[in-house]
Formats: sequence, C-alpha cells, structure tokens
Amino acid sequence: MDFIHIFKRSSSPKKICFLLLHGTGGDEKDLIPIAEEIDNSVAILSPRGKVIENGMPRYFKRIAPGVFDLEDLKFRTKELYDFIIRAKVKYELEDHKMITLGYSNGANMAISLLFTFPNAFNAAILIRPMIPFEPKENINLKDKKILILAGMFDELVNKEYPKRLFNILIEYKAIVEIEWIPYGHNLTFDDIKIIKNWYYKNF
Ligand code: MLT
Repeated sequence: MDFIHIFKRSSSPKKICFLLLHGTGGDEKDLIPIAEEIDNSVAILSPRGKVIENGMPRYFKRIAPGVFDLEDLKFRTKELYDFIIRAKVKYELEDHKMITLGYSNGANMAISLLFTFPNAFNAAILIRPMIPFEPKENINLKDKKILILAGMFDELVNKEYPKRLFNILIEYKAIVEIEWIPYGHNLTFDDIKIIKNWYYKNF
C-alpha cells in the first residue's frame, strides 16, 4: 500500500517543496502549520509513517527509545525513497528543490534517507535528531544545506548525537549549521524563528 499523505501544490513561482516527516505519534497533518508558517507559498508533500507502535505512527520500528531495528529501517528507508520518487513524477516536482523538515523520528528517517539515497532531497531541517547509523561508505553531500536544531535540555537525545551528526555531515561536505535551543525535545517557537532565518538566508 502507498503512504497515506497530503500534497499541497505550490502557489508561487518558487520551485520548492517541503517534505514533512513527523515525530512518533504524529501524522501527516502535524508539521503543515509549521511549514506554512515558514513559507505558505511553496508545495508540501507529507507522508504518514507506516509503522504503528502502540497506536502511534512512526517511520521505522524500534526496540526501545533510541534503540532502532536497523533491518526494518533499511526496508522502510527504501520504501519511503521509492514513494518520494513516484510522488516527484506524479505531482510534477522533478524540477523543485526538496527541503525535508523532520522532527524527532522524522529527523532520524531523514538522516537514514540522506545516508542511503543522498539524492532524495536537496536540503534538510533536522529537529532533535539522533544518528540512526553511521554511513559505511564515503557519501557525497556536497551542496546539501542542513540545519540541525538540538535541545540543550533534551531528555531523549544525548548531546553527543547532534555534535557527532554535525561532524559527519561536515566530513561528507554538506553545508551544515547547528543551533542549540534552551529547551527539551519539544518543538518550540524558538525553533521556528531559527528555521525561518535559515530558510530565507538560503532559499
Ligand atoms: C526515534 O525513535 O526515532 C527516537 O527515539 C525519537 C522518537 O521518540 O521518535
């Protein structure tokens, strides 16, 4: 079965599409107000995660919080990548810049996509990410713009994760910025303010 998703066409000549990846227990509607707050005029593609954990949708199975089922992650990453490729054709997005906005589990899926299929998107906003796995081969992330938003008091994500992620992305030549928010795992107005600054500086 295909992903349940929302697609919103762009209402401006800007050829940009936000790919929205929600957190555990969220759905395809969750990040739409945030994407619209950043830029209301661009396209939106928002798939719902297919894995259900105690009634909560997410993008891949986990054994415990922060302990991932890597076999399932591999399968789900390819499944989502195939969906993105099909959606690009169906919704005529092939000439659009894809900017992924991923929160928590969605940010972790975005990283898995980036490490496995670097052409899945052009830029990413990663809110409260961990590192699902380290890339085995040398991947080329040249020209990819990435913003990492880490929580200083994140009760779920160890501070070493965003720091290490920053270093990995730099090593693979991405253009990375990291911002530390003085809050926990929740998405805050401070995040949105920083995302907007970064977005209008780069796009
Ligand atoms: C994950 O499973 O991706 C992380 O534990 C974050 C989350 O709770 O979704």
